[in-house]
Amino acid sequence: MAESSPLRRAVLIGTGAYLPETIVTNDDLAQKIDTSDAWITERTGIRQRHFAAPYETAAYMGAQAARAALQAAGVAADEVGAIIVGTSTPDQAFPSTAVHIQAAISATKAFGFDLAAACSGFIYGLSVADAMIRAGQVDKVLVIGSEVYSRILNFEDRGTCVLFGDGAGAVLLQAREVAADGPGLLSTHLHADGTQAGILYVDGAVGRRDMPGHLVMNGREVFRHAVTLLSSAVSEALAANGLASDAIDWLVPHQANRRIIDGVGKKLGLPPERVVVTVDRHANTSAASIPLALHEAVADGRIRPGQLVLLEALGGGLTWGSALLRL
Ligand code: COA
Repeated sequence: MAESSPLRRAVLIGTGAYLPETIVTNDDLAQKIDTSDAWITERTGIRQRHFAAPYETAAYMGAQAARAALQAAGVAADEVGAIIVGTSTPDQAFPSTAVHIQAAISATKAFGFDLAAACSGFIYGLSVADAMIRAGQVDKVLVIGSEVYSRILNFEDRGTCVLFGDGAGAVLLQAREVAADGPGLLSTHLHADGTQAGILYVDGAVGRRDMPGHLVMNGREVFRHAVTLLSSAVSEALAANGLASDAIDWLVPHQANRRIIDGVGKKLGLPPERVVVTVDRHANTSAASIPLALHEAVADGRIRPGQLVLLEALGGGLTWGSALLRL
């Protein structure tokens, strides 16, 4: 049989992360609201989260994470062609967080835009970057998730304010010609169901100043959908690539809740030691959670070149999806 010709793929060549300096433990929260470390830990696995100081905005944190990803890849900022930022908590309605990051890191040749898909923002961003790279539009793309949910939490609502944290993660993708079994993004699958918008949303934004702009959630409903939809997203990614679940080396899930993470890991038949978990230390950082977790596991040497990594997320919208990646 003739050797197959090389494919143009988006290959991950660097990761970076930024977490705000201030750590808030469950006990810290319990001093201000009617909750307890036991309740939060048992239901979610969360033990602490980082909360941003006023200067630690989505743009500031995203720029820090982007710089780290560029440094890890050994790539200069002016080589970057595009910056995509998944965020629901931008510094301004416009200009986008992406152009603030472009200026901060001096990515003088890059265009950039923000992408609003709540907790699925990073997966959506990867998918867009992948398409742009495969189409030959750009060669190097920074995909960033950066969020300051502490600014949209309602601290009168103990059912939501204990669940979220702030932070940013970034990856640098580079176009490369690779063999079919070589590195790169193998697939992305995106989904949305706007009929479920009412179970997880922010009640307001600059276009609706008549509402306070707080996160609102029906936790039980989100939980019910999360397990079903994420399990089907995982099956879809495997089927599209003709893979059995034991081919997956690592699951890097969106970090919303330990019980949801364990449920999807079980569905895949993956032992817990092959699932990357940061929710205990970061809580739910929305679009930032996957790149933060991915960075941690790449930086500490758990995820190694050649390994297959499955990413999945679900968030407000509802939006959900997956990305399958070979390092
Ligand atoms: N501390 C202490 N008690 C709390 C509490 C808190 N922080 N938050 C809620 N409670 C109480 C409720 O008031 C309720 O008390 P009641 O029975 O006296 O009325 C009780 O705990 C149970 O509340 P409920 O909301 O039914 O809890 P739950 O078992 O469904 O767990 C979540 C709540 C949020 C942990 C769970 O629904 C969940 O994880 N959902 C998914 C959320 C998620 O991942 N969202 C992000 C997706 S991107």
